Amino acid sequence: MKETEIYLCEICGKMVEVLHDGSGELVCCGQPMTLEKAKVDDSNAAEKHVPSAKRDGKRVEVTIGAVEHPSEREHYIEWIETTQGNRTKRVVLQPGDRPIAEFCVEDGPALVRTYCNLHGLWKKEI
Ligand SMILES: [Fe+2]
Repeated sequence: MKETEIYLCEICGKMVEVLHDGSGELVCCGQPMTLEKAKVDDSNAAEKHVPSAKRDGKRVEVTIGAVEHPSEREHYIEWIETTQGNRTKRVVLQPGDRPIAEFCVEDGPALVRTYCNLHGLWKKEI
């Protein structure tokens, strides 16, 4: 499933999503931004980030982590999104919010992505 590119500035933490690609290089704080590569396997990590989904018809509840991810000021899930075709829906979270989001989806596969402020980008197709 097609996914947008997400770039991060390693210095200031600015995050940019590419909605329309072009030929220029993304630069922040005087250096090229880093393309975030979504991770898919947390089986060897103590903390869990792979999205898990409970799907019931068009309703899907996404929880981050087979063991619910922490939600503290220093370490939390910043957002959760689903993508199907040309439709992306994103829920932005704050420290203290449970890492759970509900979406309305169409039939067929959906790409779920999430971003942890410490451990980066994760994805799973559901
Ligand atoms: Fe994390």
